[in-house]
Amino acid sequence: MRTTVGIVGGGPAGLLLARLLHNAGIDCVVLESRDRSYVEGRQRAGILEQGTVEVLRECGAGARMDREGLVHEGIELRFDRRAHRVDFPALTGGRTVMVYAQTEVVKDLIALRLADNAPLLFEARVSGISGADTDQPVVHFTHQGREHTLTCDYVVGCDGFHGVARAAVPEAVRRTYERTYPYSWLGVLADVPPSCDELIYAHSPRGFALHSMRSRTVSRLYLQVPNGADPADWPDERVWDELDQRFAVDGDWTLERGPITAKSVLPMRSFVTEPMRYGRVFLAGDAAHIVPPTGAKGLNLAVADVVVLARALVHRYATGATDLLDAYSDTCLRRVWRAEHFSYSMTTTLHTDPEQSEFDTRLQLAQLDRIASATTAAAELAENYTGLPIG
Ligand code: FAD
Ligand code: DHB
Repeated sequence: MRTTVGIVGGGPAGLLLARLLHNAGIDCVVLESRDRSYVEGRQRAGILEQGTVEVLRECGAGARMDREGLVHEGIELRFDRRAHRVDFPALTGGRTVMVYAQTEVVKDLIALRLADNAPLLFEARVSGISGADTDQPVVHFTHQGREHTLTCDYVVGCDGFHGVARAAVPEAVRRTYERTYPYSWLGVLADVPPSCDELIYAHSPRGFALHSMRSRTVSRLYLQVPNGADPADWPDERVWDELDQRFAVDGDWTLERGPITAKSVLPMRSFVTEPMRYGRVFLAGDAAHIVPPTGAKGLNLAVADVVVLARALVHRYATGATDLLDAYSDTCLRRVWRAEHFSYSMTTTLHTDPEQSEFDTRLQLAQLDRIASATTAAAELAENYTGLPIG
């Protein structure tokens, strides 16, 4: 098999890249190891930056998002039993975010690709990439019990943190930067209308909690839990009781309870691999970097990477020039490190480290109070949350 751009992984990064290239008339093949229903059902991110929303609209994947997504103009911070709203449009010159689940973005992109009759192979597991430093890199994969090769002009690894594409960058060239955190998130989905109009990020003496949503009828909630926590130790009543305590605030507030339909524990990690390109192999999204979820940057970073890459590939095929491809890694990494910093600081300001001293807690509260009282500090949060410019 031969194609122009071989895409390893059919998550949001791979599927969006395929859409952008298809619209520009560049052939590509997407190889995804899982089946369609698994990929469409995998519960992950829920918040789209304004730039992500615009990209999805411009590439023709925004119709259902615009019908069903919820535009949010702020978030609430809770700490010290106080509530403070961060008003995004007022602080950023009009920017907002959209609540629209990653599962739905993925479903929309898959439907478009299949409607275009463009190649997207499910249950096609890539085992490796050879010839990264040649003009004809080759992707090796298994599909329907048989081994295949896909010869390409360029290969893009969009295969997530546990993928194989990263290994195409030789160890002698690769640098990795990593941080783990001494806590995880227990995430639950509940069939109950959200108890708030906007997301609530809560700092509390019992640890962090986040109230998010998937729609007007489905709530998504997260609780900081110790690493290694087992969802089986968290029966529904315990989850709701703990959330009640962490969201406690002076004044009127009721957390509505409802049937919990999914429960899982997510580890937290910061990770960056550099460079994001070796020869004719490029890395995009979680294959190249991971952020802890606080602040909802992961999916949005993946989108920004593939927008930069699609632009560079279109430029390459329109003009023959490789300058934008050559700049890809540096262009992306600048934004990646900014998002790493934002996600790290949101995480460490809002969570309770098991080793935390009273002094550390006072520092966290001072920082939250600063955001609540100084427009400059609130604007810094709002600009990062709604998304920095792409590229
Ligand atoms: P992925 O979505 O991981 O897609 C990679 C794809 O490659 C997958 O479909 C995988 O099956 C496929 N693949 C892997 N190996 C191979 C192979 N060898 N051959 C072929 N295909 C392969 N972000 C937030 O902002 N908020 C959240 O609440 C949040 N929750 C998360 C929860 C979890 C459990 C995880 C893992 C991530 C979460 N994220 C969250 C991060 C966000 O979902 C990711 O940043 C986003 O999915 C990145 O998209 P991607 O396409 O780069 O990678
Ligand atoms: C969600 C996840 C996040 O990490 C976040 O900061 C906000 C919302 C979510 O899954 O809805």
